[in-house]
Amino acid sequence: MSLEISNNNIYKNLYDGKWESIPNIKFIEITSPVDGSLVGKIEAMTKDDVDKVVTNSKSAEKVWSETPISKRAEILHKAADLLEASKSELSDILQIEIAKDRKSCLSEISRTVDFIKFTADEGKHMEGETIGADNFPGFNNNKLSLVTRVPVGTVLAISPFNYPINLSASKIAPALIAGNCVILKPPTQGAISALHLADIFNKAGLPPGVLNTVTGQGSSIGDYIVKHKDINFINFTGSTEVGKHIAEIAGMVPMLMELGGKDAALVLEDADLEAAAKNIVQGAYSYSGQRCTAVKRVIAIDSIADELVEKLKDKVEKLKVGMPHQDVDITPLINSKAADFVEGLIQEALDKNAKLILGNKRNGNLLYPTLIDNVTLDMRLAWEEPFGPVLPIIRVSNIDEAIEIANQSEYGLQSSVFTTNINKAFYTAKKLEVGTVQINNKTERGPDHFPFTGFKSSGLGTQGIRYSIEAMSRIKSIVLTIEG
Ligand code: NAP
Ligand code: G3P
Repeated sequence: MSLEISNNNIYKNLYDGKWESIPNIKFIEITSPVDGSLVGKIEAMTKDDVDKVVTNSKSAEKVWSETPISKRAEILHKAADLLEASKSELSDILQIEIAKDRKSCLSEISRTVDFIKFTADEGKHMEGETIGADNFPGFNNNKLSLVTRVPVGTVLAISPFNYPINLSASKIAPALIAGNCVILKPPTQGAISALHLADIFNKAGLPPGVLNTVTGQGSSIGDYIVKHKDINFINFTGSTEVGKHIAEIAGMVPMLMELGGKDAALVLEDADLEAAAKNIVQGAYSYSGQRCTAVKRVIAIDSIADELVEKLKDKVEKLKVGMPHQDVDITPLINSKAADFVEGLIQEALDKNAKLILGNKRNGNLLYPTLIDNVTLDMRLAWEEPFGPVLPIIRVSNIDEAIEIANQSEYGLQSSVFTTNINKAFYTAKKLEVGTVQINNKTERGPDHFPFTGFKSSGLGTQGIRYSIEAMSRIKSIVLTIEG
């Protein structure tokens, strides 16, 4: 890993192709959710610093937009190779910075390597089209539209703490291949991992200024960057609360938003309960439930609910709890505020007579996997996104009631339906108000070239490699009129 990026664990920002320290800057200490140790310090940039960065990005737009796509793709492939080579070291940083278990860290990085390579190749195959005029009433074949894609300019990429590598790269790579400059604003907790990723892109040979970074608390400088007149596109992943706030203040800037979720797993009478339980437990508890696509509620038909709960219990009991390097399933939550919040949701449900099946134990920020049955619709746990290792079970009497409750959520990211009846699967899938329905599988994003979109408060626009490139470029048409 490069020496230029930090000095005595004090991290700089990438500016004009170099890692620069800002004189007289204040620092934010990043401590580990694992043991409270200092991971490093990052710069709390000011409005003036942001202005300087944006000006630099604008000055790099021309050279990058005129760089042939084949050359851009070559640089992305180089970045992917460098990322692959840094896997072990970066995984160590991720583990300590965001307390993600080792296996999930390695998989986040491998998946990102594949993502960058796929993006490079996809970009090479995104061709324009020509459209004739004679199929439109009143026109002859004397006009031709030459449709191309051009970059939008400078993309502001804002990523969340739970995938600081993957959800930074999934914005940076498609934006770059489309010919844009990128300013990365990483999550504060997760910034160090993301700065290492930026270093890798820079080392792969990006011209100076094509990728810059801005660090600082979103609550301090976030509003200023998102409203900046020279930002041409905002690609944001994070909470619905912050996403809606950005959408309100940013003005007429195109944006992609990946926000919160309350993904439901609907389990019908004829489901293979063993397979359903296995998928649900993996989907609900990996990275301690800190995933937008985690299964966040089970809606089960009453007649099979007892058997399902037994199977879920059996599998949740086997989850390993501990620290990231111990190859466990459940690790400490990102901070104590998050742990307090999850605990509050559990307690409120129990106070209202939900039935605790397992868990509700806490050691610092480490919450043990918790399974709660008989959750009813007056409980916050039925509706709110915990972002922690707790799974509520809501019992219903039939398929339509299950669909109705699923759709009452303010969120609409994904849902699963478990059934062996293909007709019921499609009946349910068609009625669920979500971007993706998984049939007999846990909710999850990958593979990353599939469309990924949230209905309602879960997002705006569609990600997924080709979709992201399309979103971060615009159509430009040149019309030829042929005489005679
Ligand atoms: P968050 O608190 O909303 O923060 C996300 C990012 O926004 C961080 O970089 C944060 O910076 C920044 N930010 C905060 N306030 C800002 C402002 N006023 N202007 C601009 N940027 C601002 O979310 P999180 O806790 O990191 O992530 C968890 C949430 O993300 C969950 O709700 C989860 O469901 C959602 N998520 C969604 C998806 C999806 O694909 N749909 C994927 C992953 C996560 P600081 O860190 O400096 O505050
Ligand atoms: O929450 C992060 C989002 O990218 C989902 O990815 O693979 O956890 O479903 P995954």
